Amino acid sequence: MAVAQGAGVEIRNVSKSFGPSGSQVTVLDGVSLTIGMGEFVSVIGPSGCGKSTLLKVTAGLIDADLGTVTIDGESVTAASRDKKIGLVPQSPALLPWRTVLDNVQLPLAVNKKANSDRILRDAKELLSTFGLGNAMSKYPGQLSGGMQQRAAIARAFVFDPAIMLMDEPFSALDEMNRDLQRMALLDFWQSNRKAVMFVTHSVPEAIMLSDRIVVMAAHPGRIAQIIDVDLPRPRTADAYATDEFRDLEAVVRTALHTQMEDAHV
Ligand SMILES: Nc1ncnc2c1ncn2[C@@H]1O[C@H](COP(=O)(O)OP(=O)(O)OP(=O)(O)O)[C@@H](O)[C@H]1O
Ligand SMILES: [Mg+2]
Repeated sequence: MAVAQGAGVEIRNVSKSFGPSGSQVTVLDGVSLTIGMGEFVSVIGPSGCGKSTLLKVTAGLIDADLGTVTIDGESVTAASRDKKIGLVPQSPALLPWRTVLDNVQLPLAVNKKANSDRILRDAKELLSTFGLGNAMSKYPGQLSGGMQQRAAIARAFVFDPAIMLMDEPFSALDEMNRDLQRMALLDFWQSNRKAVMFVTHSVPEAIMLSDRIVVMAAHPGRIAQIIDVDLPRPRTADAYATDEFRDLEAVVRTALHTQMEDAHV
């Protein structure tokens, strides 16, 4: 199938229901979304509207009932086999008995053959980039929540995937740390542009990071609105204080409140 040039992720008309036949609940209803190569797209919406389900369908972790997903022009299965998809789950899921460095190197070790002809990122370098240069030989249990999150992000980048899927990676962090992590990710992404799908509940986070913000509605989960974030790049923390940022915050919050109100009727 012909894919628009530069298309990273193509989600076409994806529907997904859960539950036994007869009492099925539609969680995703005809969702279509394209994320261009190098584009950062955030997904925001009421709890239970299907954000994680959409991310999991895109990652190939669950199958859609209807519709298709292509990654860089190939099926999700092929893209996943080719290690084109990086995934940062909501909880870091590090192996407690392995050091931080071993955790980050693990995907390389278990897949030696498949990796023989691809460019891999140096695990130590990645850990340093994410501020864990001095923690490589520690075990996950010896790290703070924020450090564990950073290790999980470093691990997802180790294959240098073309597509990065992140499910609320900073949700467990306090506001201060969350902002630090957000800006570190932004810096890293600005020099390593991937197609990113980033699920978050934070409006400022979505604005600071994204090119576009997808606002989802619930019951059934669907795309309600897509908001362009045309703030100039590269962005720094100074952007928070600009009128443009505040205007966008108002727009996104209004869109979100409309969905929240609808979700509670
Ligand atoms: N494997 C499953 N089996 C049955 N129902 C499921 C399954 N996974 C998700 N659901 C249901 O689908 C709906 C959407 O779930 P999902 O996790 O995608 O929401 P979400 O938007 O990520 O919510 P949150 O913001 O709370 O993380 C919920 O009602 C959830 O209970
Ligand atoms: Mg979720």
